[in-house]
Amino acid sequence: MARILIGVTGGIAAYKAPEIVRLAIAAGHSVRVIQTPTAQRFVGAASFAAITGAPVLTGEFEHDPLHGAYPGDPVAERTPISHLALVQNADLYLIAPASANTIAKLAGGYADNLVTAAALAAGGEGGVPLLIAPAMNDRMYGHPAVQANLAQLAGRGVAAIGPDAGELASHGERGVGRMSEPAVLLEAVHERLAARARAHTRRPAGGPAGHGAWPGRRVLITAGGTREPIDSVRYIGNRSSGRMGFALARRAAARGARVTLVAANVALDAPPGVEVIEVATAADLADACGRRFSDCDVLLMAAAVADFRPSAPADGKIHKDAGVPRLALEPTEDVLAALAARRLPGQVLVGFAAEHGAGGIESARGKLRRKRLDAIVVNDVSLPGIGFDAPDNEVTIIVADGREVQLARAAKDLIADRVLDEVGRLLASSEESGDRAAIGAGSARAPG
Ligand code: CTP
Repeated sequence: MARILIGVTGGIAAYKAPEIVRLAIAAGHSVRVIQTPTAQRFVGAASFAAITGAPVLTGEFEHDPLHGAYPGDPVAERTPISHLALVQNADLYLIAPASANTIAKLAGGYADNLVTAAALAAGGEGGVPLLIAPAMNDRMYGHPAVQANLAQLAGRGVAAIGPDAGELASHGERGVGRMSEPAVLLEAVHERLAARARAHTRRPAGGPAGHGAWPGRRVLITAGGTREPIDSVRYIGNRSSGRMGFALARRAAARGARVTLVAANVALDAPPGVEVIEVATAADLADACGRRFSDCDVLLMAAAVADFRPSAPADGKIHKDAGVPRLALEPTEDVLAALAARRLPGQVLVGFAAEHGAGGIESARGKLRRKRLDAIVVNDVSLPGIGFDAPDNEVTIIVADGREVQLARAAKDLIADRVLDEVGRLLASSEESGDRAAIGAGSARAPG
């Protein structure tokens, strides 16, 4: 079991932090808690001290009676510098909730309180893994400054869990900003610890590109189109057939990858050797992908995910004699962007954009940047004979390094093979840079 440091920052969601601590201890972990001064206005240190059975520190110069030890560990004789010892003795550092202010400080490398100082002392990539659970008002979360800070942190290997959509602290407000539930956070902690352990024990047979990079790789693929219920018989859907995603799954499995296919309303036979998870709505798809994401090496997001859903679907059937209904819509989560925000080092993420007519490539370039992808595969559905439900496709692969690869019209299985060739190159280069980072971090602390 692991030593987990939990940093609590100021925000309404701090009321859920004691439950995270309780669950982590119930799962057998040793937990220490540190707080920012503002966090103490929401939950007092005494609550955490009672649950952990260890002192809670709130300032960098505070004396730690346990000298940086975790419950169950021997206490060192020498008094260390508290923020260094607590994080250096940890197997993982979770900041929950992480307020917009703390996220900005982490992105900027500030060390103005114990929580932020400990984040710096965690040591970046190759050091103690840092997970954050953002929680704030939805307008704050959507602000470009917050998104840019999260992108910067993700680029440094800091995984963000959530936030989720739902009711917010301000009365009557709903949106994306709620801190993920404690059980979900603990699951993410376990996934991150497992991924770290794997990274130290496993390195799949790799090659420079093409087929050699694939055997044993875990590939998560989405396909089809989500359906958002209006009532018990009607839905808002789209024309995606799932053919491109199924072709990718078939070809990746043929290369020896272990493939999980999240299929939204697809009427095609499952490719041999592929695990298929059937989903209906964007929320189902988000949930299925969220559970498997930290386990995959590659995500190929070929599904057409609804951007809006009816905010109050009727339980039964809406009858026409009640008049023409007015449909109120609400946004769905951008699943790909949310997963990209919590990506682990070495993972390769590819989006798919069906664009219509002129300007499609430029629009897809924007999505590649905004969603922080490694590549995006774009096709023009206004061209006759390709796209939705057609056996053929004709695409451009836009790679984050600026390359653009045009693939002439061909059967979707052939297009899938060329896309996988490109992804194989991305995998090989991410593995190379991972190796360089590992050599650079050669003196980093071994996992506990
Ligand atoms: N996507 C997603 N979640 C959404 C919408 C899209 O994960 N709610 C993913 C798709 O699976 C695809 C990529 O984002 O891989 C691009 O999808 P697209 O619909 O083209 O982009 P949007 O961001 O929805 O932009 P727009 O609809 O304005 O074109």
